[in-house]
Amino acid sequence: MNVENEKWIAAIASADYVKNGMLVGLGSGSTAAFMIAELGKRVAGGLIMKGIPSSDATAKLAKQAGISLISLDDAGTMDINIDGADEFDPKFQLIKGGGGALLREKILAHNSRFNIIIADSGKKVDGLGKFKLPVETIPFATEIIISELHNMDLKPQLRMKNNEVYKTDENNCIIDVDIFKKDDLQELNNHLIQIPRCGGNRTFLNLYGYCFNGAREQGCYL
Ligand code: 5RP
Repeated sequence: MNVENEKWIAAIASADYVKNGMLVGLGSGSTAAFMIAELGKRVAGGLIMKGIPSSDATAKLAKQAGISLISLDDAGTMDINIDGADEFDPKFQLIKGGGGALLREKILAHNSRFNIIIADSGKKVDGLGKFKLPVETIPFATEIIISELHNMDLKPQLRMKNNEVYKTDENNCIIDVDIFKKDDLQELNNHLIQIPRCGGNRTFLNLYGYCFNGAREQGCYL
């Protein structure tokens, strides 16, 4: 099965969890875009829900799909949050943030009663770290955090786009770090969260509740 089909299957399966009246966190990225399209179809078919977008790009997609949006402030706690991932390991630990929306995504995940991750089989790895771990930082602290990450032997690289420093929707910077040789991710996580103003930087360890269904056997992962 090709990757696009796997994304569709996972997206459709995740949309099945969305029931009338729910407040739904909407993740970012190409897999989340399938889920938004699927929810849009269901809204057109009568589903009543409101979305809380994790990025400006997702807000735009959701509006185009006909999904009503509300702010996180107005939503408070969400019923469910559905998002993609860059990598997941056998313990279902994740790397997220390839699309640069990690801090908002993490905030939505934290404020949701239930979290679902949708990913194609290509995201499955034996150990996290082939994909660089994104670390989101406020501009004020970015250089000093790069030094600190360098001292931790994480080979930090400031993310660039079109020859300029990449900025998130929150006007933050992203530093991509190499965790491939790190065996103890929990220790790394604990260390990273000690760094002041280093936001959305974790590997999403132990955060999500995972759901599985038949799609998993077909090579898709919810
Ligand atoms: C954005 C994310 C995305 O969920 C992650 O990058 C996966 O994206 P895609 O579905 O396009 O592979 O964390 O910050």
